[in-house]
Amino acid sequence: MKLIALALLVAFSAQAQLPLAPTGRWQHQPVGAAPTPPMGWSSWNAFRVDITEQKVLASAQVIVDSGLADAGYRSINIDDGWWLKRRTGDGRLQVRTGLFPSAATAGDSSLRPFTDRIHAMGLKAGLYTDIGRNACSQAYDADSPNLPEGTAAEREVGLMGFMRQDVRLFFGEWNFDFLKVDGCGLSSYGRDRPHVASGQYREYTPTVVEGNVNQSDVEGTKRLYVGLKQALQEVRPRGDYVLSVCLWGQANVRSWGQDAGTMWRTSRDIANTFSQMVHNFDSVATREFYAGPGRWNDPDMLEIGNGEFDGQHLLEARTHMSLWAIAAAPLMIGTDLSKVSPALIDVLKAPEVVAINQDPAGHQGVIAYADSDRQIVVKTLAGGSGINRKAVLLFNRTGAAAKFTLTAEQLKMDAASPIALRDAWARADAGSFTGQREFELQPREALLFTASGRHLLPRGYFVSERPGNVYVARDGIRALEQDPIAYRSLPSWGTTDNGGTRPAYAGWGGPRADSTPYDQALSVQRQAFRHGIGVLADSRLQVQVAPGSQRFVARVGVDDSTRGKTAAVSFEVWGDGRRIAATPPMKFNQPARDLSADLRGVKLIELIARQHGADTAGPLVVTWGEARIE
Ligand code: GLA
Repeated sequence: MKLIALALLVAFSAQAQLPLAPTGRWQHQPVGAAPTPPMGWSSWNAFRVDITEQKVLASAQVIVDSGLADAGYRSINIDDGWWLKRRTGDGRLQVRTGLFPSAATAGDSSLRPFTDRIHAMGLKAGLYTDIGRNACSQAYDADSPNLPEGTAAEREVGLMGFMRQDVRLFFGEWNFDFLKVDGCGLSSYGRDRPHVASGQYREYTPTVVEGNVNQSDVEGTKRLYVGLKQALQEVRPRGDYVLSVCLWGQANVRSWGQDAGTMWRTSRDIANTFSQMVHNFDSVATREFYAGPGRWNDPDMLEIGNGEFDGQHLLEARTHMSLWAIAAAPLMIGTDLSKVSPALIDVLKAPEVVAINQDPAGHQGVIAYADSDRQIVVKTLAGGSGINRKAVLLFNRTGAAAKFTLTAEQLKMDAASPIALRDAWARADAGSFTGQREFELQPREALLFTASGRHLLPRGYFVSERPGNVYVARDGIRALEQDPIAYRSLPSWGTTDNGGTRPAYAGWGGPRADSTPYDQALSVQRQAFRHGIGVLADSRLQVQVAPGSQRFVARVGVDDSTRGKTAAVSFEVWGDGRRIAATPPMKFNQPARDLSADLRGVKLIELIARQHGADTAGPLVVTWGEARIE
């Protein structure tokens, strides 16, 4: 009986955790190929479902003619609105040829002429579908004349029940390179919806409940997307594709997206307002350990060119671009390029800004300073040995001018040596400073620099400054909770006749760079650590080790902020599958211990915080203080 209860508990635990035991090999398997954040253009923010082949091609032509393609924007993605129906009998999807005339020329409707055209322009082609039976437009753009037609079955244009067939069609026959896969089919076809009650669409009891991760089927949803990845891998064994998971930060996708897709949305849809853009940025800003080369947190497509980011708002447009650059976010243009001004093209093209986004090391920026008004975010850039290069963003989130002090310590640079700044927008050197430098920023302004200086450490680097080298094999989270610290703007479609915008994205309690999992300063028995990793007990972090490294060093202990105080935690370092250092079990309010391990010849370390004994007060918070690789 007990055994059954235990089995049930494991089966129902919100997130089936990977084992704590080290594997000795890097566990992240790349999905498709995107060593740097994907770049391109998508029809959605520009046209919603009011899309035509001609509009898509017009923007594609500007991409080529304006030099945006040379700057890296190459994927031309058709979003929702391209389909006419699913043919009964053989289940083959039919294209809305009235909107995509070239699809009619091939006898049966086919998007192959379209992709051939895009490929002939030296570009790549992307398409959109849904993991469920029906798509988002069918639920949220109900008045559009461009929705799929026919019987309820014919209007089931999503992948459910047709996954292999559709993937073969999209990637085999039609030769697309990129697929965005939405999840409205899992969330928006409950029996209470008018479009379902009317019999227009088949009922699907939601398995993704927006804003309520505890009633969402996290494992089942993940399984669907992982199945899709496998289907895609069969059609494209060379892995030459990008799979974009679009679950709006729901169903804990912020934690498992990297195992199912090349990129995954971390929040609800962006809109062309500053506050919504900030909300979307916040949804990735604390997820630094979940992204890296080949796996990207996606705060959604750009709004540059639209609304509060149009040609009258170049400062806001630059800020939006700077934020996406420092976050190593996919850069998908979302405006009608045939209408934008050359000044906006220049914002999108800005070579030194794009270079920060596309830096080959693939690290996401880490928050070095934050209050509700101001943020300083630092992104480690690739550099030769001994070269310490960072990108740094200063962001004034408010409508008033704001003062900033940037310090050498925030850059993890030596405070006694000069630090040279270069303005990524002006493409000009911006002088150097020693120790710290003051700035005053305009309302909503972001400054973006690259900084070069001597590292704070005489040798090596902190693990927290290279988050792209970390894979969170197990985060230690026992019960899923929604992350409360994202800016809670009113969604563009929302109203205030309710209780407000609630925290909506799980992942609260995940590991953080230079912070505890709950956004507190790191501290063990009142010893503060400005640098380090904060994580829950019963966690396992995999860390790739730079060649030539000699030692791993840290000061570890139970963090002063922990709620659970009775259990103990031991800290273990494993190198390529062998235990190379460990502490005895440690408790709350015991001093931090030095941990040091020989890394000569080691390629991968695993940092395990193992809990001993239960703690009814909740998971222990632990700190790998000053964790560094020398
Ligand atoms: C969802 C997605 C958007 C867009 C629309 C299309 O809302 O999040 O990015 O693809 O569906 O209907």
